[in-house]
Amino acid sequence: MNYKSKSHSNLPNGFFLKAFNIAIYISGSGSNFKAILNNTLNGYLASNIKLVFSSNEEAGGLQYALKAGIETSIIKRNKFANSTEFAKKQLELLNKHKVDLIILAGYMKKISPKVIENFKGQILNIHPALLPKYGGRGMYGMNVHEAVLKNKERKSGATIHFVDKIYDNGQIFMQKEVIVHENDFPVNLQQRVLKAEHELYSAAIRKLEKNN
Ligand code: GRF
Repeated sequence: MNYKSKSHSNLPNGFFLKAFNIAIYISGSGSNFKAILNNTLNGYLASNIKLVFSSNEEAGGLQYALKAGIETSIIKRNKFANSTEFAKKQLELLNKHKVDLIILAGYMKKISPKVIENFKGQILNIHPALLPKYGGRGMYGMNVHEAVLKNKERKSGATIHFVDKIYDNGQIFMQKEVIVHENDFPVNLQQRVLKAEHELYSAAIRKLEKNN
């Protein structure tokens, strides 16, 4: 891996955190991205966000990147002649910024197999349920929370997992549980899970910074 070490104020002398160069992929409101960004700025994380890819130009999260002076790139598959060109564009930018950790944060598209091949074990995704339950085809957004409530689960939560070529399939890295209340509506559960996601994603990155 290509990271730089840096000493860190939250750790005793002599302990080091790895500072990753992070690329974040988003599609929507970008609240997970914002939480991670804040934690790179307030010193909880040693890593730096170098690049934000968005699958559309309307993604709310783009404004956080612009404000923080982070390079953004809109990547739409239909703007490229073929999947090779699509992946090439991403790999060029990832290499330019010496990215060594990719964070998928609400990215609604399938990530290019070429990117996965080039970043084996270096791509994390977050899912708003306790995988392996409630993952895979159709399990995104509110569908997940509706299914959890329909099945009268007592707990749900968030999962961070490594990404392989199958949706929601890679090795689970960290999970955080959220209690399901009897009178929950999908939207209430979603909000509590999202709050857990915001804490969990930075905790996962910090764990990688400590252990690698
Ligand atoms: C999160 O619930 C995440 O688990 C899912 O998409 C949502 C993204 O939310 N993959 P945000 O864009 O980070 O606010």
